Amino acid sequence: MGPQGVRHSSDVEVGGKKIVLAVSGGIAAYKSVHVARSMTQLGADVRVVMTRSAERFVGDQTFAGVTGNAVAKDLFGDGPDAPHVELARGADLALVAPATANSIARMAAGLADDLLAATLLTVQCPIVIAPAMHAEMWAHPATAANLATLAGRGVIQVGPNSGPLMSGDTGMGRMAEPHEIVAAALDAIGHAQDLSGRRVVVTAGGTQEPIDPVRFIGNRSSGLMGFAIAHEAARRGAKVTLVTGPNTLIQPPGIEVVDVHTADEMRDAVLNGAADADVIVKAAAVADFKPVDHADKKLKKAEGPPEITLEPTPDILAELGAHPELRKPGSVLVGFAAETVEDVDQLKALARHKLEAKGADMIVANEVGTHDSGFGVRTNRAVIATADGVVDVGLVSKEALAAALVDRVVAFLALRA
Ligand code: C5P
Repeated sequence: MGPQGVRHSSDVEVGGKKIVLAVSGGIAAYKSVHVARSMTQLGADVRVVMTRSAERFVGDQTFAGVTGNAVAKDLFGDGPDAPHVELARGADLALVAPATANSIARMAAGLADDLLAATLLTVQCPIVIAPAMHAEMWAHPATAANLATLAGRGVIQVGPNSGPLMSGDTGMGRMAEPHEIVAAALDAIGHAQDLSGRRVVVTAGGTQEPIDPVRFIGNRSSGLMGFAIAHEAARRGAKVTLVTGPNTLIQPPGIEVVDVHTADEMRDAVLNGAADADVIVKAAAVADFKPVDHADKKLKKAEGPPEITLEPTPDILAELGAHPELRKPGSVLVGFAAETVEDVDQLKALARHKLEAKGADMIVANEVGTHDSGFGVRTNRAVIATADGVVDVGLVSKEALAAALVDRVVAFLALRA
């Protein structure tokens, strides 16, 4: 670390890292040779994948020469059966340089119509893109929308700059310089490791409290927020246990998943992991009440409306807050507060209140019940409260909120070290 905890590229250990360098077709491809060479000289294992049109600008032998690895181009051929999987598996970083308007659009759409696109759809690592295109293409709303989509998924963008373009004119769209791209790549790799050696327990989704074998009391939580946090923590090097209520999401690779249904099951699973956890993030929407009894057989409509008596579920977050002995010393406890509010000031006040009430180190309060924030949508309008104050994160993707949350968790851990 540099002065005042600022990370410098030179601090990042690159030796042995597998970097997929995806080169699409633009005049700037020649600059990617310098990127490939720099990363290789730093000790990275650079695997280049090129589109057919990229070959019009740079020969594959040039990349093979500077990286020492054969260049991948074809989805089907003499090589491995699934070359995109072979390239993507174990990659620490995917770097798309140049990222043409076309390759950006294909990434945003999730296309897999050549080896480069299929590889980018398969990688589980951070992705850095260095856009390069004519000024008009850069300014097109379609490109802006595609880049916003990618940013929402956590893709990191470097450049473009304003400068001379291939068309002979000058404007926005010139690919970032190799040293800028290498710096962004190193930052992305280094960033991915700031929870290395840490154990993180994340809860996600809603609980289901049974009424009878087929009915339950539940809520609309999708699990997206908790999954995004688990993914972000794992990406940054943590060993993650994700305790989740029923959901329809794809099981995140490299993460231990404990499936639960009820608040009681969630409590057992969380307390099980709490003693070893450096960080506990309670993103789950736990039911506050459960039926005192549930029927063994399906309740019959003919028997009329049942009387359901409710009792409180265990408040897992409050229990962990009130009993530090259940947790690893120095661990960070993060809770969520899903609130219907009039304005951000109300959200901030509720976050502050819940911070006290739950004995947590951090509360993320997010708005629910709107079309763009809370349960079942990909974005959240949120504030983050700690003893130092409340920060308004605004309306962001759940991935971006997860990153903001993990940044603060890392700062907490550093202060307690
Ligand atoms: O009190 P409220 O339900 O608003 O608190 C929300 C926070 O408390 C979330 O972090 C949630 O995961 C946690 N919680 C819990 N156990 C409950 C209810 C909520 O851990 N029974």
